[in-house]
Amino acid sequence: MVLVGKQLQVKKATAAIGAYVSGVPLERLVGDEDLGSALRELLLEHQVLFLRDQPLSANQFQALARGFGKALHHPAYPVAPGADDVHILESTPEAPSKIEMWHSDMTFSATPPSFTLLHGQIIPEYGGDTLWASAVEAYEALSAPFKRLLEGLSAEHDFRHGFRESLAEPGGVERLAPAIAANPPVRHPVIRIHPETGRKAIYVNPLFTTRIVEMTAAESRQVLDLLFEHLVTDEFTVRLNWAPLTLVMWDNRSTQHRPINDYFPQHRKHHRVTLAGERPQ
Ligand SMILES: [Fe+2]
Repeated sequence: MVLVGKQLQVKKATAAIGAYVSGVPLERLVGDEDLGSALRELLLEHQVLFLRDQPLSANQFQALARGFGKALHHPAYPVAPGADDVHILESTPEAPSKIEMWHSDMTFSATPPSFTLLHGQIIPEYGGDTLWASAVEAYEALSAPFKRLLEGLSAEHDFRHGFRESLAEPGGVERLAPAIAANPPVRHPVIRIHPETGRKAIYVNPLFTTRIVEMTAAESRQVLDLLFEHLVTDEFTVRLNWAPLTLVMWDNRSTQHRPINDYFPQHRKHHRVTLAGERPQ
C-alpha cells in the first residue's frame, strides 16, 4: 500500500498491471488539478486504475474525464442525456453485447484514444468481469530476435472487422454505413512507443487488426495469432469484478482489455468516455 499525499491510497493488483486507488473524496476527484496529475502519473505507471464507490453523475464523470484530455465520440454508441462526451454501453436481454474479443479501444481510428474511463451504472449480480492485459509487459517478455522481427512492421486495423457481427444483423449495414464511410482501414506500427513513458508495446489486437502489411497472408496469420496468445498470458493480466459506481481508467496505448459476456440475460450498463490520443509511432 502506497500513500500519495495525505489521502490517496494505492494498492497494486498484480505485479504486471493494475492498482486499486482509494481515499479519494468525490469533491476532490472532479476539478482538483493536483489530484488529477497524481492520478495521471499512477495511470501511466499501473496502466489501469480501479476506484470503488464513486457516485458520479454523468456530468461529473464528464468533468473528471475532461481533466485528462479532449473527449472523442464513438460512431456506434449513444450518448448520455446532457453529457455529450459520455457514451452509454449497455447490454440487455434484447440487445446483448457483441464485443468479447481482446482489444484496445478504437484502433480502427488514425488517432486512437489515449485513455478510456468507464463508470459502472447497472452491474449484474454475477458475471460481467473485465480483463486487462499489459501490452508493455508482454512486449518486454519477447525474445530479442523476435522483437527485431517485429520492429518496423505495420498492421491494418479495420472498423468493419470489429463490428462484423453487428453488420451481419438485419439493418446493420444501413445503421453503420456512416461509421464505415468515416473510418476506412488504417495502418499502425505493430510495436508502438508510448508517447509519455517511452515503453514499447505490442499494438495489434484480435478485434480490429486484420493483417501485418509487410508479410504474406500465412506469415501474418501465424505471427498475429502468436502475439494475440502471448499478450493474454495470465501473468500479464488483471481481472476486475465490477460493482455499481466502480470507476476504472485505463491507458489504451499500453493495454488491451476484454469484457466477459457471462451474465446474460442480466442487464449491464456503463458510462464511458474515451480521450483523444496521438497517431501511434
Ligand atoms: Fe473496449
